[in-house]
Amino acid sequence: MSSDMNADEKPGMAIMISGTGSNMEAIISAAKRGSLSVRPVLVVSDNPDARGLKKAKSMGVKTLAVPYERGIPREETESAIIGAIKAERAEWIVLAGFMKLLTPRFVQAFRNRIVNIHPALLPAFPGAHAIRDAIEAKADITGVTVHMVDELMDHGTIIAREEVAILPGDTEETLAARIHAVEHRLYPRTLQQLFHEDF
Ligand code: GRF
Repeated sequence: MSSDMNADEKPGMAIMISGTGSNMEAIISAAKRGSLSVRPVLVVSDNPDARGLKKAKSMGVKTLAVPYERGIPREETESAIIGAIKAERAEWIVLAGFMKLLTPRFVQAFRNRIVNIHPALLPAFPGAHAIRDAIEAKADITGVTVHMVDELMDHGTIIAREEVAILPGDTEETLAARIHAVEHRLYPRTLQQLFHEDF
């Protein structure tokens, strides 16, 4: 906990998304219900058209779109994000379908304060197509991983994992639906444990 936070105040959290934001919605809903003790202070997207941005606004959370422009160094774009997160005094950064790789400078600015969810049992199937890759590899089991973010993609200390069976005839869509259902339950629960050191 930072020194400028009251002991009885909930920690602030920024969520970073690129698309639908169904995990973001599950997390904000859990915070509203009180099962996740955190203040969602900001939702950031690299994609101004992300559906999740509208959803976040409708849930009363401040939003910020920061497009990554071609030819502009990523560090420069990230500076705007870092500035906004610090201005809102977010202690935690939760990646929920954020599709850009963070630079080492960003990771170092919030060391051990950035969390990600990945739709596979890491270290298996890292990358942007984890669900399709697991089906194509004819795996029987895949799942969901929640992990701390370090400088490498889909890498860092694993906090929670849950298996999801791949059924005969599964398509990317049918498997994704079951994986999402697990994510929406596992992510808020794991964040509650992490934010309040309840492991
Ligand atoms: C999730 O499957 C998550 O594991 C991955 O991106 C997807 C985001 O989905 N990192 P949504 O935007 O939360 O619906």
